[in-house]
Amino acid sequence: MSNDGVNVGRRRFLVAATSVVGAAGAVGAAVPFVGSWFPSAKAKAAGAPVKVNVAKIEPGQQIVAEWRGKPVFIVRRTDEILANLAKLEGAVADPESKASEQPTYVDPKVRSIKPDLLVVEGLCTHLGCAPSFRPEVAPADLGADWVGGYFCPCHGSRYDLAGRVYKAQPAPLNLPVPPHTYESDDVIIVGVDQEKA
Ligand code: FES
Repeated sequence: MSNDGVNVGRRRFLVAATSVVGAAGAVGAAVPFVGSWFPSAKAKAAGAPVKVNVAKIEPGQQIVAEWRGKPVFIVRRTDEILANLAKLEGAVADPESKASEQPTYVDPKVRSIKPDLLVVEGLCTHLGCAPSFRPEVAPADLGADWVGGYFCPCHGSRYDLAGRVYKAQPAPLNLPVPPHTYESDDVIIVGVDQEKA
């Protein structure tokens, strides 16, 4: 009975493996034509702008958009969070983001166009894991000094709620701020620079 089960399982695996090879072959043959059939899909893969409605983000909460295949974190920061950012200037490695990627139209310290709305790419600058959003103050696992930020589960890098990396972390740089602009009060376009909009 149990042997039968194993055999069936193996057979299923072989069938599945064969199907995958077959599908891969078909995809490989089709790829050269996809660009001409679906130019908008090609543009998307190259990084077409993405519109995000931010109206429903509650204070202190985050939503995650996607641009160029990367997560983009959008956080509505409270006055308390903004006040904490000012206090962290001595604790973060690059408080004005002189070495880190961010557009010139973004405030160098709070790293956003509007103070209350942070927009950063959600990939750790160490080896590219997705940092966890940890807005709580002094949670047991992050310690009494933690005032909210991002914690990378891969090797422990810590960032504040402006995406600025703390000193002496595996990650060398702040989270990048992608080009973005406001189409209206509630709609952000990620992938378009403010000056060019
Ligand atoms: S990838 Fe984030 S700390 Fe290594």
